Parts: sequence; C-alpha cells; structure tokens
Amino acid sequence: MRSLLLILSIIFLTQPYNFSESATPECTLTGNSVDNLASVLATCKEISISNLHVPAGERLTLNAQNGSVITFEGHITFGYKEMSGFLIVIHGNNITVVGAPGNLIDGGGARWWDGLGGNSGKTKPKFFQFRLTNSIVKGLNVKNSPKHCFTITNSENVILTDITYDNLDGDTQGGHNTDAFDTSHSKDVTITNCVVFNQDDCLAINSGDGHVFTNNYCYGGHGISIGSVGGRDNNVVKNIFIKNNTVVNSENGIRIKTNYNTTGIVTNVTYEDITIENITDYGFTNNYCYGG
Ligand SMILES: *[C@@H]1O[C@H](CO)[C@@H](O)[C@H](O)[C@H]1NC(C)=O
Ligand SMILES: *[C@@H]1O[C@H](CO)[C@@H](O)[C@H](O)[C@H]1NC(C)=O
Ligand SMILES: *[C@@H]1O[C@H](CO)[C@@H](O)[C@H](O)[C@H]1NC(C)=O
Ligand SMILES: *[C@@H]1O[C@H](CO)[C@@H](O)[C@H](O)[C@H]1NC(C)=O
Ligand SMILES: *[C@@H]1O[C@H](CO)[C@@H](O)[C@H](O)[C@H]1NC(C)=O
Ligand SMILES: *[C@@H]1O[C@H](CO)[C@@H](O)[C@H](O)[C@H]1NC(C)=O
Ligand SMILES: *[C@@H]1O[C@H](CO)[C@@H](O)[C@H](O)[C@H]1NC(C)=O
Repeated sequence: MRSLLLILSIIFLTQPYNFSESATPECTLTGNSVDNLASVLATCKEISISNLHVPAGERLTLNAQNGSVITFEGHITFGYKEMSGFLIVIHGNNITVVGAPGNLIDGGGARWWDGLGGNSGKTKPKFFQFRLTNSIVKGLNVKNSPKHCFTITNSENVILTDITYDNLDGDTQGGHNTDAFDTSHSKDVTITNCVVFNQDDCLAINSGDGHVFTNNYCYGGHGISIGSVGGRDNNVVKNIFIKNNTVVNSENGIRIKTNYNTTGIVTNVTYEDITIENITDYGFTNNYCYGG
C-alpha cells in the first residue's frame, strides 16, 4: 500500500503542469468549434479563447463561474450568417476579461454591411454583450463589428479599459449603426483609455447611474451621447462623469437625445476637458424631440 502511494505521488509530481500558465489545454477554446464550451465553463475558472474560429450562426456565450479569468489570445474570427443577438456574450460576477498582447477579435463586419445598419437590409448581430458585476474588461483589440459593438447591460461596478475598436473599414464599405459603447440598466460602469474609430455613437447611455467616461479617443462617428432616453422600460440617466475625451471628424461632439413624446430624466451629467475637432453638425447639442 505504501509503495502504491509512493508511485502515485511520483506520477503526480512529474506531471509537466505549470501552475503559472494562464489556462490548461482542457480550459482552452481553439480551432473551428465551440462544441466543448459547456464543459470548459463547468470545469474551468481560467479560460483561454485562443485563435478560435466561431462557426457561422453560433455564438460564444461565456456564462462564467464567479471569479473567472477569460483571456483572448491570437486571432478570433466568426463565420458569416444573418442572425440577431450577439456574437459574444460574457456574463458573470468578479470576472476578469483580458486581451493578451497581439489579440485581435475580428467580426468580419463587411460581410453584413450594406449601409443600412440595424434598421433594415441584412439581419446583423451585435458584437459583444457584457452582463457583469464587479468585473474588469481590458486590452481587447476589436475590429469590424456588423453593427453595435459593446452592449453593457444589467451590470454594476464594471471597468472597461484599454480597448481598441477599429471599424475604420466601415467608412468606405457600408458600416452603419456601429456604436462603440451602449449601456442601459446598469450602475457604476467606467470606460477609460479606449480608442474608437466607427460610424455612430462613441458612447450612448440609454439609462444608468454613476457611469464614468474618461481619457477616450473617438474618431469618425456621432460623438459622445446620452440617449436616446425615453419610451423604454428604464428612462433615467443620472450622475454621469465625462472627462478628458477627444472627439475628431465626427457629426457631433457631445449630444443629449431624449425621445419625442416620452418621459424620462437626465440629471447631473458633468462634462470636463472635452476636445472636439472637425465636427460637421454640432459641438454640443440637446435634442429634446429626438425622432419627432
Ligand atoms: C510557466 O508559465 C509561465 C507563463 O506562461 C512562464 O513564464 C514560465 O516560464 C513557465 N515555467 C516553466 C517552468 O515552464
Ligand atoms: C456569484 O456571485 C453572485 C453575485 O455576487 C452571488 O449572488 C452568487 O451567490 C455567487 N455564486 C457563487 C456560487 O458563489
Ligand atoms: C475574485 O476573483 C479572483 C480571481 O480572479 C479571486 O482571487 C478573488 O478572491 C475573488 N474576489 C471575491 C470577492 O470573490
Ligand atoms: C487624457 O486622455 C489621454 C488619452 O486620450 C491621456 O493620454 C492623457 O494622459 C489624459 N490626461 C489626463 C490628465 O489624465
Ligand atoms: C453628481 O454626480 C457625481 C458623479 O459625477 C457625484 O459625485 C455627485 O454626488 C452627484 N451629485 C448629486 C447631487 O447626486
Ligand atoms: C473632417 O471630417 C470629415 C468627416 O466628418 C472628413 O471627411 C474630412 O476629411 C475631415 N477633415 C479633416 C481636415 O480631417
Ligand atoms: C404621444 O404618445 C401617446 C401614447 O403614449 C399617444 O397616444 C399620442 O398620440 C402621442 N402624441 C403624439 C402627438 O404623437
């Protein structure tokens, strides 16, 4: 019996397991399939999404265990299919989502772009939905979203930082409604040190409390927006702090949109140190009759 234990412990100790690796092969999603997603989510808290191609019509739904670390590495790509919903959903509490150096999450948006965005034409998926509490998302490099890129909803105490969203190709290839950060039903969301090239709002807050938007660069879109507010199931935007952002070559710098013939509240919004350059429509605009 003692020798058996000794043999077992020798076998265990000689396993080539490196405890400081970010994720084991069993906890890595790679290749051309998401078939092992459910087992990875059930057994792993350190998950790596590495050079993964998500097949057409499938979604990467990361309903992660509390305390998970999800790392995106290499190039992540998606098959093409007309579909609604999201390409990637990340849901959980105390989650760290991190882009490893050199990561690129490429939506291949041009296959859906038809200049019509979310309104008509091809049915397009949004890119990311975050439903997170006490979490951080950092270092993602995202390219070419079919339409809206990041939706942050039912979230609280979340930081999104050092994210690059490069939708520049949409300028010449029909990108439309390619919003960067859209948020609703959330509290204390901080978006900082991000760089955005797109064709619609850089930020759009439909509802929410306590959000912070600082040190971001917005190029080519519709500017930093509150709204549109009204006619939804939550119509309150309050305690918003927007500082040290740059908006370039865009339709608007700063905009507040409240919907025509609806009710709601927009209160205590602070703007400080906003640089705007080459704006076609308005530097600052309050549209109290949006859609009217
Ligand atoms: C373990 O993995 C870490 C991170 O990848 C690496 O820096 C380190 O060199 C590895 N150690 C061994 C013994 O392989
Ligand atoms: C995960 O976090 C949520 C939110 O804080 C909490 O309600 C839940 O009990 C946690 N679950 C586990 C298994 O710890
Ligand atoms: C959050 O998750 C980390 C692992 O990423 C863990 O070390 C920490 O204890 C967790 N915090 C709470 C409050 O559960
Ligand atoms: C303002 O934001 C820019 C990035 O857009 C950053 O480089 C700079 O350090 C920030 N300034 C302050 C005072 O935080
Ligand atoms: C207004 O919002 C700021 C955050 O930007 C917050 O610190 C402050 O307490 C709020 N003021 C009121 C009266 O709620
Ligand atoms: C100003 O922005 C428009 C797009 O809004 C762009 O076509 C034009 O080239 C920009 N001008 C300069 C000087 O960057
Ligand atoms: C305003 O909305 C109400 C329903 O909420 C509708 O009955 C009414 O016709 C609308 N008025 C106008 C002028 O659009």
